[in-house]
Amino acid sequence: MGLFKKFFNMTRKPEGILGKMMINTMNKGHGMMSDWGMSFLDGVEASNICELGCGGGKSAAKLMKRYPEAKLTAVDYSPVSVQKASELNAGEISAGRCTVLQRDVSELDLPQKPFDLATAFETIYFWPGLEKCFGRVCDNLTEGGHFLIVNETDGLDSVGRKWEKKIDGMTVYTKEEITDVLKAAGFSDVKCFTRDKLPWLTVLAEK
Ligand SMILES: C[S@@+](CC[C@H](N)C(=O)[O-])C[C@H]1O[C@@H](n2cnc3c(N)ncnc32)[C@H](O)[C@@H]1O
Repeated sequence: MGLFKKFFNMTRKPEGILGKMMINTMNKGHGMMSDWGMSFLDGVEASNICELGCGGGKSAAKLMKRYPEAKLTAVDYSPVSVQKASELNAGEISAGRCTVLQRDVSELDLPQKPFDLATAFETIYFWPGLEKCFGRVCDNLTEGGHFLIVNETDGLDSVGRKWEKKIDGMTVYTKEEITDVLKAAGFSDVKCFTRDKLPWLTVLAEK
């Protein structure tokens, strides 16, 4: 595998030096999109948050600023992501507000549950068996809890489709596909938001 392909494959599961570099790139590069996605949380209350596929932990840090009273558990199956997210959120971890765990979303069953908010930024493309994973998220949420999904691709744009071909194990989804799987997994109310001139997609589901 060429270096370029190898580097972009680090988005799926960051490993080694290239993985560390990719995590820094994602922490910087996903900022505007995650801010836009989080804007749809206006009016959503949260006291116990689970940030899934947390990567380098930037969105976890932002969520803790947005919800200053809330506790947050950040989860990723990559040890490199867990290390970076732990370093970035070291202050909140020492203060007892934040926990970072190495876990696979498909096996999610956390002692910190039930959560009233779960979030997933740029990660569901890699989750194995979306219905099972969304089911695990649903099981870890309170009744009335929310699940926020934010994707840089709406599953229709040519750029998203191009990355799907370049990155092994990546699947991009349309809002209809995500909605159907969320409903099958136990979510009752699903709202989708798209962005003018960009293929960004936010989905907010309520259990
Ligand atoms: C493209 S990165 C996005 C990271 C971060 N959310 C962001 O927006 O910068 C995808 C992350 O999801 C994690 N991930 C992928 N599949 C996962 C799974 N099944 N369980 C836990 N983490 C997963 C990867 O290890 C990686 O850190």
